[in-house]
Amino acid sequence: MIHPIHIDNYSLNNSELFDNYIQHHRIIIVSDPCVSQLYLSQLKATLRHRPCHAVLIPEGEQHKTLATWQQILDNLFSHGYGRDTLLIALGGGMVSDIAGFAAATYQRGIPWISIPTTLLAQVDASIGGKTAVNHPGGKNMIGAFHQPSAVIIDPRVLESLPEREFRSGLAEVIKYGLIYDADFFTWLEINMVSCAARDPAALSQAIKASIVMSDEKDIADKRAILNFGHTFGHAMENVSGYCTLLHGEAVAIGMVMAATLSVQIYGLPESVLSRIKRILEHAQLPLTRPTTLSPEQIVEAMRMDKKNHNNTLRLVLLKSLGEAVVADINPMGIGSMGAIPMDQIKKIIREN
Ligand SMILES: NC(=O)c1ccc[n+]([C@@H]2O[C@H](COP(=O)([O-])OP(=O)(O)OC[C@H]3O[C@@H](n4cnc5c(N)ncnc54)[C@H](O)[C@@H]3O)[C@@H](O)[C@H]2O)c1
Repeated sequence: MIHPIHIDNYSLNNSELFDNYIQHHRIIIVSDPCVSQLYLSQLKATLRHRPCHAVLIPEGEQHKTLATWQQILDNLFSHGYGRDTLLIALGGGMVSDIAGFAAATYQRGIPWISIPTTLLAQVDASIGGKTAVNHPGGKNMIGAFHQPSAVIIDPRVLESLPEREFRSGLAEVIKYGLIYDADFFTWLEINMVSCAARDPAALSQAIKASIVMSDEKDIADKRAILNFGHTFGHAMENVSGYCTLLHGEAVAIGMVMAATLSVQIYGLPESVLSRIKRILEHAQLPLTRPTTLSPEQIVEAMRMDKKNHNNTLRLVLLKSLGEAVVADINPMGIGSMGAIPMDQIKKIIREN
């Protein structure tokens, strides 16, 4: 494990657990108005009502900016917080990304704890210490690696999560099965209806399995394959101005596109592609791009992806169920992958 991860129903109410991470720290909590209304008072009670200050930042990806980061830092300064401060991020991936970045940068770094409250943040965003804000130049373009002292996950908080946000998180859970573990994918096929209905037992099992795989973020060559579906997905998010598709929805469509290319390049069986589409349908995730997003613009945005190297397009493809590889594709069609003309990629986008 990169950092301790505690996952348990009622961990949000477990004072002894939090005591382990709070020595003589002063505490600042960063959250958003929606999450704080639901869970801030519980957290304060769990912290045994130690003195602490809460900073509420505006909700939404459009606020994951340097201006909001500065709002957090201004609060830290104005209340005279020093390096003996523990920052606690209470919220989804947006809150953990920006609060973690504030912890990484305030006085060259203070300790922090993440309490992720969305499925996406529990299985992905809060794991591995990747913190960031967006810049007009691109998503997550300013950031730092800063490991939290602990990630404390209470699956019960997912009960209040809006349906669409919840399903968006399921896309990342499905991704883990596709890239790492065919058995887990098969388990998900059987249990997707229960997971989608937020059955506590099924959901806990899915979250725990996903976290074990998400932890692979530590290992560089394994980290790369976590981007399965993301190059297509980020490009669609970017072209839509981050307001048409949620992250997980874009990743779901991106996974269909990447799997379709995998059929053409690696001979991934059509039956696997059909299984991917079926499980995404059971999770009520979209399979095709909104027609308002033009294939030409998506391809253009893909060319700008920060994971590309030396003018090659970097995509994660499937060789088989549970086995992913990184493929560098030269835009001229002459790369380590042999001839994959960009037109072939554009055709897949057009048809999906
Ligand atoms: N650092 C990483 O490794 C990493 C990985 C994946 C995604 N991310 C980032 O995560 C962000 C997306 O995170 P997200 O999908 O969690 O969305 P989010 O943080 O924007 O939260 C979505 C909405 O759900 C609400 N919400 C959160 N928890 C709730 C709960 N328990 N009950 C009711 N409402 C709740 C929030 O107030 C917000 O309105 C993006 O900024 C993305 O870049 C980071």
